[in-house]
Amino acid sequence: MLFKKKNPIGLDIGSSYIKVVQLNDTKAGYELALYDSIAISQGIISDGVVLELEKDNLVNALKELMKKAGIKGGDAVIGIAGHSSAIIKNITIPLMAEEELANSIKYEAEQYVPFDINDVNLDFQILGTRPEGEGQMDVVLVAVKKTVVNDYCEVVEEAGLYPVVVDVDLFALSNMYEVNYGLTEGTIALINVGANTTNINILQNGQPVFTRDSAIGSNTHTDALERSLNISREDAERVKMGRSVEGVEPSDVQLALSSASEEIYSELHRSFEYFRSSVEGGDLSKIILSGGAAIIKGFPETMADRLGIEVEVADPFKNIKISGKLDAAYIKEIAPAAAVAVGLALRRIGDK
Ligand SMILES: Nc1ncnc2c1ncn2[C@@H]1O[C@H](COP(=O)(O)OP(=O)(O)OP(=O)(O)O)[C@@H](O)[C@H]1O
Ligand SMILES: [Mg+2]
Repeated sequence: MLFKKKNPIGLDIGSSYIKVVQLNDTKAGYELALYDSIAISQGIISDGVVLELEKDNLVNALKELMKKAGIKGGDAVIGIAGHSSAIIKNITIPLMAEEELANSIKYEAEQYVPFDINDVNLDFQILGTRPEGEGQMDVVLVAVKKTVVNDYCEVVEEAGLYPVVVDVDLFALSNMYEVNYGLTEGTIALINVGANTTNINILQNGQPVFTRDSAIGSNTHTDALERSLNISREDAERVKMGRSVEGVEPSDVQLALSSASEEIYSELHRSFEYFRSSVEGGDLSKIILSGGAAIIKGFPETMADRLGIEVEVADPFKNIKISGKLDAAYIKEIAPAAAVAVGLALRRIGDK
């Protein structure tokens, strides 16, 4: 073959930014061949669902991003998030072979999925046998609403791409983590704070033991800035990114940002408390923080202080070489926001 087929792009369609990543497989490991993003208007995506009336706007934004990034077509991996679109649950069921479970998953899943079982795509991953030898095993169950998957696929196809894998943002995060940080013993939390959603994926010796998508994110910061400083949403986004806006005092910005941050920390605190009370050995040794909010000045440091847990800002390119053609300084700066897109770009056709 003269031309090696390119890897699918990882397409993270967030509620505030669409991010795209393409990786090359090289002898020395992964290489970041492409990164780009585009802002989308608020209200196109709500709790992980594309609003019907806004579909064309999303297609147009995606086309614009592709033009900007020089993407003409090809395969894409997309991710789903949001508690009303995707359900991920750790369940314990009788010991059986993978094949057998594939056949019976629908019946096993029925009691755990709050939607009609015929309206969801089901997937699972066997985590392992229960040590007590009670003939049971732990399984991660994934159920994604078919309508949500279809909507995203339709948008992606209309923009001229071919959706080859539909993943879940939470799992994209753990793939990103494993490739860059390897298997970590003990208990760590991967936390991705986006605009609308906070994804929490707690790993114990590399396996997901607790997952949750919370409906709080960095829009809380933007809302607080808009309200307390009486400025436009655009200006709120500007000052959030550390730029100056006429008539706005940096100390007032800090004040609004910190009160919004406290709301996010409280939500995380609640989730961790729940985790501690429901999972054995629930002592977290570290938080790996990603998402656009991780870029906000002081956000990770204060999080560590409030939760009493070490916080490390994720570098999704720790173990991925950035191509010389790209602006490495810029990419390092926005890197935490690229975490999900990198995880998606790691997926290959035929992966389970
Ligand atoms: N450089 C930056 N400095 C500060 N905040 C930033 C920066 N870049 C992005 N953000 C903020 O991060 C958020 C976007 O993060 P991200 O791209 O992870 O969210 P998303 O994927 O669009 O949203 P979601 O996953 O919740 O639907 C926005 O609220 C934005 O204001
Ligand atoms: Mg996101």
